Amino acid sequence: MSTAPSSDAAAAGTVPGRAGAKAPTHGARITAITSGKGGVGKTFVSANIAAALARLGERVLVLDADLGLANLDVVLNLYPKLTLHDVFTGQSKLEDAVLPAPGGFSVLLAGSGMIEYSRLTPMVRDQIDDVIQRVRPRFDRVLLDTGAGISDVVLYTISLADEVLIVATPEPTSLTDAYATIKVLASTQTLRPIKLLVNQVQRPGEGRAIRNQLQLVVDRYVNAMLDKPLSIELLGEVPHDPAVREAVLKRELLVEATPGAPAARAIAAAAAKQLGD
Ligand SMILES: Nc1ncnc2c1ncn2[C@@H]1O[C@H](COP(=O)(O)OP(=O)(O)OP(=O)(O)O)[C@@H](O)[C@H]1O
Ligand SMILES: [Mg+2]
Repeated sequence: MSTAPSSDAAAAGTVPGRAGAKAPTHGARITAITSGKGGVGKTFVSANIAAALARLGERVLVLDADLGLANLDVVLNLYPKLTLHDVFTGQSKLEDAVLPAPGGFSVLLAGSGMIEYSRLTPMVRDQIDDVIQRVRPRFDRVLLDTGAGISDVVLYTISLADEVLIVATPEPTSLTDAYATIKVLASTQTLRPIKLLVNQVQRPGEGRAIRNQLQLVVDRYVNAMLDKPLSIELLGEVPHDPAVREAVLKRELLVEATPGAPAARAIAAAAAKQLGD
């Protein structure tokens, strides 16, 4: 199913209250897709995993949670008239800002003009929380495409999710930053399950090696302070593939434009694994 039917949209308005970090168990599984370092492929992964999950029959919403530097609209070649900004300011109803995306999933775009939301004011907290809790009953999966790093907006967005998907590349800087993110999450909030997707690998098996390397550091420096040790699950590895850049330049979804490309196959495999979890 591509987008939620309008009767569900109407129901979204009737969902009471906000649950914040104590997220209710009903409705969509919420995954925050994040990274320590920027530019590693979060938005590419969010959009393409969403399309792959939609193809598997899931009702998926991607929310552009990178409020200050949103660009999911660019990747999807959408020119939204209504964005989260309009929802936050009361100029649009939430259901009107949930738009169909080319890959058969739905999106809530931040668009431009959201710079004022890049700081976590009480208003921003309430607005993000409210929107997430209201879309939750309408979908099977909600993916939050967050900004990079450990800003308070990113950490708060992650606190609203059921699980975290960290995207990292094999570059040492990306790994160090992925570790920093995990460490901050472990010391500041109830830890959600953490999955890892290693993007732009140069050889098969590199993702597993990177996961093991990261786990080693987590075992040594993070798990000592946790009651329950954190085990990072490898969701998948995606090869460096020139088809990705071509798809981004053409503003197409890779899994739609070139489903046979190695990176598209890897994304489809990660989506299938995600579905089974
Ligand atoms: N597997 C890949 N193979 C080749 N190029 C890739 C791959 N994944 C991502 N890229 C390139 O990296 C670019 C940046 O990706 P993307 O915008 O998704 O990163 P991001 O993590 O969302 O960035 P930001 O932190 O700015 O939000 C893409 O436009 C694409 O050109
Ligand atoms: Mg991005």
